[in-house]
Amino acid sequence: MSASTDVQPRLECHDVTVRFGGVVALDSVSLAVPPATIVGLVGPNGAGKSTLFSVLSGLRRPDAGRVEFEGKDITSYSAQGRARLGLARTFQHPEMFPGLTVREHVMLAHRISTKRSRVWTDLVTGRGFRRTDPEEVERVDGLLAALSLSPIGDRPVAGLSLGMTRLVELARALATNPAVLLLDEPSSGLDALETEQVTRVFELAVERRGVSLLLVEHDVSIVLNLCSRIHVLDFGVKIAAGTPDEVRSDAAVRAAYLGDDQAVGKGA
Ligand SMILES: Nc1ncnc2c1ncn2[C@@H]1O[C@H](COP(=O)(O)OP(=O)(O)OP(=O)(O)O)[C@@H](O)[C@H]1O
Ligand SMILES: [Mg+2]
Repeated sequence: MSASTDVQPRLECHDVTVRFGGVVALDSVSLAVPPATIVGLVGPNGAGKSTLFSVLSGLRRPDAGRVEFEGKDITSYSAQGRARLGLARTFQHPEMFPGLTVREHVMLAHRISTKRSRVWTDLVTGRGFRRTDPEEVERVDGLLAALSLSPIGDRPVAGLSLGMTRLVELARALATNPAVLLLDEPSSGLDALETEQVTRVFELAVERRGVSLLLVEHDVSIVLNLCSRIHVLDFGVKIAAGTPDEVRSDAAVRAAYLGDDQAVGKGA
């Protein structure tokens, strides 16, 4: 544990405050996401988790505080500017292009990160999706296979279940080869098998590609199992941070969120 504190974080925020009228959604929140680790962000409904994701990904300017990517202040960067640095996110409520197939979504995302200039032509004409190179095919096929999406690769995303849509969104996010991936409730709407697959894909992304993940997740057992460090928000305030063991035994966390021993054990 001790050495990791000296490592330059990939993504960090310092004293971030966001107000919505009278509501203080985030009150001077700081956290860091080191390279190739999974960091958890948990807290009850309305704690400010999605708001912090919006601040980190550039969709919302904080009223105070700053965001840094590999030590550089990116608080004024747009979401697109941050994406170019290697910051990707998934949404609590995924947005897709209904007419595109599963494979096209993943291929488009991969192409955005590798051959930016061709993407809009491909999207407008539709023909470009057929002109593929072997590296692209290998990466896209690999992601589809890892998430068991190969059998539905040619189906339009319109009409897919929420669980399937989430898997496509995750494949799409990973296809951009992100340095940091922000995941907002990735297991919500997934069944047990899909959840297992998704968590395995997270571990592979960290182990094989060195991706850093910041994970918002209501399933406490997932967070306790996957994350090396966990931050706990309550009413916009960070009430605790530490290893899973430290957070599990933190009195403030128990009172505010986990409730009791059984809640931790069951992953409620
Ligand atoms: N666009 C907005 N306008 C006004 N208030 C907002 C807005 N977005 C969030 N809030 C408020 O800010 C607080 C934090 O909301 P946020 O969505 O970040 O919480 P959360 O931790 O993601 O909750 P959940 O677990 O339900 O997803 C809540 O009180 C919420 O009502
Ligand atoms: Mg949320």
